[in-house]
Amino acid sequence: MKVRGQHFRTIWLTLEDQCVVQLIDQRFLPHRFVIEEVRTVEQMAAAIREMHVRGAGLIGASAGYGMYLAAIEAAAARPAIPEFDEHLASAAAQLNAARPTAVNLSWAVERQLKNIADGKTVDEKVALALRTAKLIADEDAEHCRMIGQHGLNLLRQIARKKAGKPVNVFTHCNAGWLAFVDYGSATAPIYAAHDSRVPVHVWVAETRPRNQGSKLTAWELGEHGVPHTVIADSAAGHLMQHGEVDLVLVGTDRTTYTGDVANKIGTYLKALAAKDNNVPFYVALPSSSIDWRMRDGLKEIPIEERGAEEVKCADGLLEGQQVEVRVAPEGSRAANYGFDVTPRRLITGLITERGVCEANEKSIRALFPEHAP
Ligand code: MRU
Repeated sequence: MKVRGQHFRTIWLTLEDQCVVQLIDQRFLPHRFVIEEVRTVEQMAAAIREMHVRGAGLIGASAGYGMYLAAIEAAAARPAIPEFDEHLASAAAQLNAARPTAVNLSWAVERQLKNIADGKTVDEKVALALRTAKLIADEDAEHCRMIGQHGLNLLRQIARKKAGKPVNVFTHCNAGWLAFVDYGSATAPIYAAHDSRVPVHVWVAETRPRNQGSKLTAWELGEHGVPHTVIADSAAGHLMQHGEVDLVLVGTDRTTYTGDVANKIGTYLKALAAKDNNVPFYVALPSSSIDWRMRDGLKEIPIEERGAEEVKCADGLLEGQQVEVRVAPEGSRAANYGFDVTPRRLITGLITERGVCEANEKSIRALFPEHAP
């Protein structure tokens, strides 16, 4: 997508040096556009853990490149195959431990380990790691582009009924291009609609405590010229009660093969409000976010708990400096659950790269028959 008119992905390999990965460091957005250089798997694990990169698809792509960096390191220091493989196994464990909820992380690491294992020599293994890292990133971008095309049909249908008035989409957190390699999942249909002159307006929930909505989604939409309004998370129900939302469109960090959806904390409450007000609630996801091993989202999906300071504090720009201020009393305890699970019964449909399906096992497997049990 474009930043001040120039096309960017969120992560890429430098042209000059194929051992350096560059990524957009999201901690500084929307105030500063910073590009970080990552050279080791340890740096990549830290970038994921500390949320320089975030969002399911981008976490997966970062893990893919992380494994490639680990392969380069291993080839330089341990050129014998058993030691090379040992180093890769420990890099895989390090990356997998970085964040628990987005399944794209372990999916990308597993894919790398499987492909690298096909190499007969260390050089072959490094080449396979590079090819796989690029493939994971390219596929992520292409799958999001396809999600955009399938979601565009839904937005067009609503637009026809609204006779020229904008389609009001509600979104939560950032499932935009910053959360993937390009396009985004929830935002892909929005960008596709905007580019096709379907009038669209987006309600952006700020998404406390880290404000991915007001910091990232609002910035992205603004850069692309999409009309949007930032609202407090708690305004969602009010807007739906007053007919101001035509469709809720969110992303997911992990969706079970039965259709339960883990997404940023607060998503479940939006789904409840949507159900009560007959507002369609769609989840956009590339198939890399489907967990083919998990049946019951509420019982099985690991929910990340983060530091209390994220809840007790807020940050923003003051006289050109990014500063953090404390909002809650210093002595108060705070709990910080990163995600919640929206049960499939509250979901109207899933928008995937292969089309739209219902949030249930039969419908999901019909789109992805290669994952038959
Ligand atoms: O904690 P984050 O920012 O990595 O949260 C993940 C997300 O970006 C959201 O939950 C998003 O809606 C789904 S990931 C595309």
